[in-house]
Amino acid sequence: MTSKCVISLDLPEDIVAPLGGQFELLTWSGSEAMPEMTLQNWLADAEGLLCALSTPITASVIARAEQLKVISTISVGVDHIDLAAATAASIPVGHTPGVLVDSTADLAVGLMIAATRRIAEADRWMRTGQWSQGWQSDLLLGTDLSQATVGIVGLGPIGEATVKRLRGFGCRILGWNRTPRVLEGVETVDLEDVFSRCDIVSLHTALTPDTVQIASRERLASMRSGATLINTGRGALVDEEALIKELSSGRLKAGLDVFETEPLPSDHAFLSLENAVLLPHVGSATRSTRMAMVTRALENLQAGMSGQRLPFCANPEVYGLSA
Ligand code: GLV
Repeated sequence: MTSKCVISLDLPEDIVAPLGGQFELLTWSGSEAMPEMTLQNWLADAEGLLCALSTPITASVIARAEQLKVISTISVGVDHIDLAAATAASIPVGHTPGVLVDSTADLAVGLMIAATRRIAEADRWMRTGQWSQGWQSDLLLGTDLSQATVGIVGLGPIGEATVKRLRGFGCRILGWNRTPRVLEGVETVDLEDVFSRCDIVSLHTALTPDTVQIASRERLASMRSGATLINTGRGALVDEEALIKELSSGRLKAGLDVFETEPLPSDHAFLSLENAVLLPHVGSATRSTRMAMVTRALENLQAGMSGQRLPFCANPEVYGLSA
């Protein structure tokens, strides 16, 4: 009997075609995220699951998926998967580290420039026909990245790649990492100092129970007036309610690619704030990076379906290795 594999998102035909020859595929092609109940039903006798950030893989989904041999996500982050439940059920979870580092770091720097030079705001302004004079000395003034002190929260691969880019701009860089790391051109400081001493603070930690709302109300309040928060990590790294207050009062600016609730509801307060540049979670969205992520996810899936060790495993404990 052919093994069954659930694909919880719509992927281009040519990408999934090779899987079709090996497995019976059940592919979700709805325009909204796959409902949990459908996922549970489809997984009842499936051995493989290929998923992405839009599908939460909860403990109850895992508990009912009795035949499941592998979960492979097209993402580096695994916070949408109950990793502890997967590990307890001896199900390896594959993810895609490494390949999206440069694209995400590019986007973080892009957001820094967009927010401090008011690029999205200026674009909106022009399109609404407000450009009635030519060059104006005080039109849409911003601040210079070269003169900024930039704080990096999390000096893992994406934080480090962001630092590498920022060095070219000549700005001063302060950094914090949970386990101290020394990086060329970065002054290592306390987390509190990153928030209170920088003109731009960029978040690059994974979302874990320890990092939920690492950009807390108090830390946001300690940021310099006029400072900018950049988030290309996860929405839940930020106390969004507190950030909305800081943005509404005009004290802070933001460049955000990620949100606690995705998609962002159409009446969300962020959408009415001129001083926030908003993107729909596109940190890794380049053609070549997405292809590399899918390739890596398929390698993980195939390995897991055939009972081999996953090349990129987020819970190596299932193989008796430490995380
Ligand atoms: C994107 O956010 C990822 O985790 O790959």
